[in-house]
Amino acid sequence: MTIELAVIGGTGVYALGELADVESHQPVTAYGAPSGPIRVGTYAGKRVAFLARHGEGHSLPPHKINYRANLAALKAVGANRVLALNTVGGITERFGPRVLACPDQLIDYTWGRVSTLCEEPGTEVLHVDFGDPYTASLRSEIVSAAQRANVALVDGGCYGATQGPRLETKAEIARMRRDGCDLVGMTGMPEAGIARELGLDYACLAIVANWAAGAGPDADEVITLQDVLDNVAAAMGDAARLLRAMLGG
Ligand code: HPA
Repeated sequence: MTIELAVIGGTGVYALGELADVESHQPVTAYGAPSGPIRVGTYAGKRVAFLARHGEGHSLPPHKINYRANLAALKAVGANRVLALNTVGGITERFGPRVLACPDQLIDYTWGRVSTLCEEPGTEVLHVDFGDPYTASLRSEIVSAAQRANVALVDGGCYGATQGPRLETKAEIARMRRDGCDLVGMTGMPEAGIARELGLDYACLAIVANWAAGAGPDADEVITLQDVLDNVAAAMGDAARLLRAMLGG
């Protein structure tokens, strides 16, 4: 049976609760090993693959994730479409904690990561079109599934990918706002670019876990991991309903 959708879980999402009849795969790819096992099972009656981006015990920081291996491994088990769950901070006013968003643009502020398949000498040089970094048809499916499931979702927004693992300064977030970013996260790139190089359909479902530094009503609020995890857990019910609707369940 072909895989309908691959889901990559971010911070706070280490398993898909309703995945049934699970088989585990750990393909070793031309780029090395993925962050952990790929769990393939049935979700809402469809075959779905799940991978925890940071590892199931959250042991990999964003700059150490082997994004190439993760995506190549999902492709190797038969996935062509990837829904990336990304835990993010909100910068502009529509993107407060617990909001779900499906961004349509991104800006890459990461550095020093292996960010392309064209890394090794002798590999074909690719210049993939990346004007619209997320696959439009997959984004439309997410947006219409949210409507069917009656899940509030912001359609659009610009994701700024930072290096981490530290959070940003207020000045960095102010600059990102001036640049046009609505959301900030640490894992959106190079994942989206590599997905495009691999020919995978790819879209992001961002889960806002906190106001980014200085962006919320209390500009001096300290961001804690516990708040991040609590807000992701609170938003996951809606994200799961959206996913079920997307899969036709
Ligand atoms: N900044 C960067 N990444 C994040 C944040 C943030 O505020 N919250 C969750 N992931």
